[in-house]
Amino acid sequence: MKKKLITIFAILLFPLTVAAGGGGVALDPVNINLNDKESLQKGARTFVNYCLSCHSAGYMRYNRMGQDLGISEELVAENLLFAAEKTGDLMKAVMPAADAKKWFGTAPPDLTLTARSRGPKWIYTYMRSFYRDESAPSGWNNKVFAHVAMPHVLYEWQGEQRPIIEKDSHGVEHITGFEIAKAGTMTEKEYNEAMRDLTNFMVYLAEPAKLVRYKIGLYVILFLIIFMVAAYMLKKEYWKDVH
Ligand code: HEC
Repeated sequence: MKKKLITIFAILLFPLTVAAGGGGVALDPVNINLNDKESLQKGARTFVNYCLSCHSAGYMRYNRMGQDLGISEELVAENLLFAAEKTGDLMKAVMPAADAKKWFGTAPPDLTLTARSRGPKWIYTYMRSFYRDESAPSGWNNKVFAHVAMPHVLYEWQGEQRPIIEKDSHGVEHITGFEIAKAGTMTEKEYNEAMRDLTNFMVYLAEPAKLVRYKIGLYVILFLIIFMVAAYMLKKEYWKDVH
């Protein structure tokens, strides 16, 4: 009976394991921590400087982001407002979508909700999996997004990667890893850390209410602890007469 149940479970869960695989490419785990304000701020800086030129995060306003991440309105205006005029503006792309479509063949999608549609692991792996491909129009390809129209916009940081390709038993070629063909300004560790911060920020972007929920959660736990002490004292008081 037990074996049968396990078999049924395994069959039911199989589609989940396939779906989580992201098309057969292994995704790397990433340490997401929305309480890490410094990481969120660094991620925001990268996002605004390097992504908003093409992509929008059209459901977020600069000042809301500043408030949530503990960046003052003046600092937002001074350091993060390249693509807009007022801190109350939505985070729209600099490049008009029609031009982008003409240049890249496909319009860069809005990134507000990408951390939810693709998942943090996917974004983290994607941003670290660009490699040189002379046959591609942009000169770049990506292990998790084959024939992607996006060029590797952070190659100066990461450097240029070349794929290590191996054939499996059926003669099909797979990318098993990368080697750095041309060094960037960051070490591998620094680049991974920057991509972790960027992914962390995009998780916040996709669900800003998560931060509020964490705060409420803390108050609830505090309340429960205080309530437990009160309940315990009350119980002692009631039982005094019984004993
Ligand atoms: C030069 C323009 C350009 C810049 C700058 C750029 N992207 Fe892109 N990006 C694109 C284009 C074009 C696509 C669409 C690719 C496709 O569909 O083939 C894309 C696709 C993506 C996707 C896949 C979205 C999905 O769900 O399919 C992600 C994630 C992404 N970009 C993240 C970023 C991040 C993060 C940055 C900043 C570090 C960035 N991009 C900067 C042009 C750009």
